[in-house]
Amino acid sequence: MSPSAAKRHPITIIPGDGIGREVVDATVVLLDAAGGQIEPDYVVAGHVAFEAGIASGVPEETIASIARTKVVLKGPLATPVGTGNKSANVTLRKFFETFANIRPARELPGVPSAFAGRGIDLVVVRENVEDLYAGIEHMQTPNVAQCLKLISRLGCQRVSQAAFAFAASQGRSSVVAATKANIMKMTEGMFKSEFEKVASDYPQITAGHLLIDNCAHQLVIKPEQFDVIVTTNMNGDILSDLTSGLVGGLGFAPSANIGYDVAMFEPVHGTAPDIAGFGVANPTAMILSGVMLLRHIAQFEAAQCLEQALFLTLEEGIHTRDIAGEAGLGTRDFVDAIAARIGKSSSTPAREHHELKLTPLAGVDVDSSPGSRIKVGADVFLESQEGPEVLSERLQRLIVGTPYTLKMISNRGTQVWPSTGAVPTCVDHYRCRFIITDPTTWTPESVLDLLGRIGHAYRWMHVEKLERLDGTDGFTKAQGEN
Ligand code: NAI
Repeated sequence: MSPSAAKRHPITIIPGDGIGREVVDATVVLLDAAGGQIEPDYVVAGHVAFEAGIASGVPEETIASIARTKVVLKGPLATPVGTGNKSANVTLRKFFETFANIRPARELPGVPSAFAGRGIDLVVVRENVEDLYAGIEHMQTPNVAQCLKLISRLGCQRVSQAAFAFAASQGRSSVVAATKANIMKMTEGMFKSEFEKVASDYPQITAGHLLIDNCAHQLVIKPEQFDVIVTTNMNGDILSDLTSGLVGGLGFAPSANIGYDVAMFEPVHGTAPDIAGFGVANPTAMILSGVMLLRHIAQFEAAQCLEQALFLTLEEGIHTRDIAGEAGLGTRDFVDAIAARIGKSSSTPAREHHELKLTPLAGVDVDSSPGSRIKVGADVFLESQEGPEVLSERLQRLIVGTPYTLKMISNRGTQVWPSTGAVPTCVDHYRCRFIITDPTTWTPESVLDLLGRIGHAYRWMHVEKLERLDGTDGFTKAQGEN
């Protein structure tokens, strides 16, 4: 092995689908031209893997390569919409627990956008493996589908920590958590409260909170006020596409999926099937992802060199067709223009960058065992075409002799029995709340007995035990419930 090869950092490269290979090839050429010392290991995922019958879209060799190199440069992968295989992207993020998705949106010189001149330079840190993206879905009835929104204390803490650590690595001064804690008090509420705990470890950084809808509004009204925004998976998915739009569009939005062990760098955009194969894709987002990769492996000089050459190219008005129309360059000519500017500086300085330090949270930080835990009842979800009055009468007859009383019935979260005077439309999916009269008499068998009795007359789908943890209800009330 030559001395220079010995210094090279092994990198797994997944060219991806659609325009993936075009933008990945462009980026690898430039990483090299800028002095990046990388040793590529090319593997596949996505379409090719699905075609080969690999249901996850990620072959074993790809997993082995990532486990070895720990650093991935990845093009976009196609995912069928609505039906078919699961997303290979989501598989990769989950498999390697890359729990924080870092998505910078910085105004780039010479790139037109409705917000040009405002000095936007913000980062969305999106939780990457939990929330609705856990993909746990069930048809509750033939007419009602359910997706579980799972949020863990660990997930909230580590993505919050990643947001503050990233802010610190770039000398940024504020981190805002954006949640919907006013409506989803337990899931989004946990995100808010865990964020606040982590914030106390970073006294030099200002921590704030915004409701996600207000955050979206503020991002359009005054985007330059933001530094780092941290949020749950679904919120972050939507918000970060919005922030890409603020600085010129998807063609300019890079990202990093970061975990304690593995980091994966990819553009925010997808496979762009409408332009794939024509050699016109804008490689900027992929190149900027490559710049993030170089900084991750502490090759700061090469990163800055490539970033400056890209900035200068854009600053001189050299663009691809997505923003310059027919006058724009194809991918290859655009890459040549950047390569010709390697070693030159643009008028846009590089940000401050230091190593991103992430250390696993100690178990004690994420364990919140309650002192007391009292069972107070059960919510049974069942299918019925009946109206609430008929349903309540039948259920009350069915549970005579059990320790439970029927407290309330709701339909898609709104109380429909006892009547509150509201007249919501009812679908065939009810939640029936049974409360145990004397919690000291609760036994697991009592729940099984309850389900057995209900099961004689109705199809029930699932049951949720109702618990009071340290004197606080571990469940929410229905809309209208007292
Ligand atoms: P998309 O991002 O591929 O395309 C949206 C629009 O932006 C298209 O008009 C496209 O031509 C344009 N565009 C995107 N990137 C561009 C670039 N670099 N240069 C010039 N124009 C560009 O989003 P879409 O159409 O919703 O998704 C297509 C496929 O990509 C789907 O299968 C989707 O699942 C997948 N996808 C993969 C992602 C990933 O691998 N991380 C992320 C997003 C989507």
